[in-house]
Amino acid sequence: MFQNLKLGVKLNLILLSVFLIIVLINGLLLSNILQKNAEQEVKDKALVLIETMTSVREYTSRNVTQNTIKKLSPELELDGQFIKTSVPAYSANEVFNNLQSREQYSDFFYKEATLNPTAPGDRADKFEAEIVERFRDQPDLQEQFGFRKVPAGNLFYIARPLQIKNESCLVCHSTPDRAPASQIKTYGKEGGFGWELNEIVGAQMIQVPASKVFAEARRLQLLVIGILAAGFIIAAIILNLFLKFSIISPLTKMSKWSRDVSTGTLDADFEHKPNDEIGVLAASVNRLKVSLEMAMNMLKQNPENP
Ligand code: HEC
Repeated sequence: MFQNLKLGVKLNLILLSVFLIIVLINGLLLSNILQKNAEQEVKDKALVLIETMTSVREYTSRNVTQNTIKKLSPELELDGQFIKTSVPAYSANEVFNNLQSREQYSDFFYKEATLNPTAPGDRADKFEAEIVERFRDQPDLQEQFGFRKVPAGNLFYIARPLQIKNESCLVCHSTPDRAPASQIKTYGKEGGFGWELNEIVGAQMIQVPASKVFAEARRLQLLVIGILAAGFIIAAIILNLFLKFSIISPLTKMSKWSRDVSTGTLDADFEHKPNDEIGVLAASVNRLKVSLEMAMNMLKQNPENP
């Protein structure tokens, strides 16, 4: 079937198959690489942010609360109000709120997802509670990450355990009567108590938008396929022109020439300038024509005795 096709059709079929094979390989390999890259990109962003939030917590705990506020007001009270800025969790949330108010970070999220929280807004939802439970079941687990679908799009999350490593945390998180009176006044007695030393009470979670990064990866892949297609089209045009002018057109001329020579309507030699394979063939057919003429002449001169 393929053998009976014209040279031009054959060439284009071969080009098309090569193109499809390359697009297929490109689809498999490149999409894999781009997917991995996109994943790494969102993960890097999330890692930087979670480390930053941990640093904010440490700074508040050490520099703000221990070294400053506690010395100024041991009861953590100012004008009868609990000094919220003394709480690491509070400052971390506030710092992140500031970041979120910038447009390019508006879809980034930070949460100290906790099973029994002091501030109701920190309560872990079902998805987050599962992450916290996993940390509680496997105390050696230091990090969990993955994707999470929300109505706004695909989010990449990274979570680390929030563990009570310090006795000082229990002043405010063991029983309401140990906590500063002003804290109870502000937050009530319901949540954030009964925590124990070394207990994992929640998960520190950063969520960064992943949809855009993945859309960019897909766009990049389409671009690569587009560039490949353009390259193939240009190559196909050049090869088709070459095939036409260097091979098909001289061969068509040669077949017309040989038909005319064989019917005796033409006596001229076959003209082909380039010294390529067709040129060699042209020289051969011209020699063949001469030999044929000589043989015919001999036959004509001596018809009885061939
Ligand atoms: C002075 C009292 C106080 C101390 C000390 C304290 N916390 Fe808190 N903690 C709070 C308050 C109040 C909140 C709620 C803050 C807010 O409004 O977001 C809170 C919030 C948290 C949260 C977020 C979940 C929640 O309960 O809302 C975590 C996690 C947490 N604290 C862990 C710790 C750890 C770990 C330590 C010790 C390093 C510590 N806390 C020390 C008072 C305290």
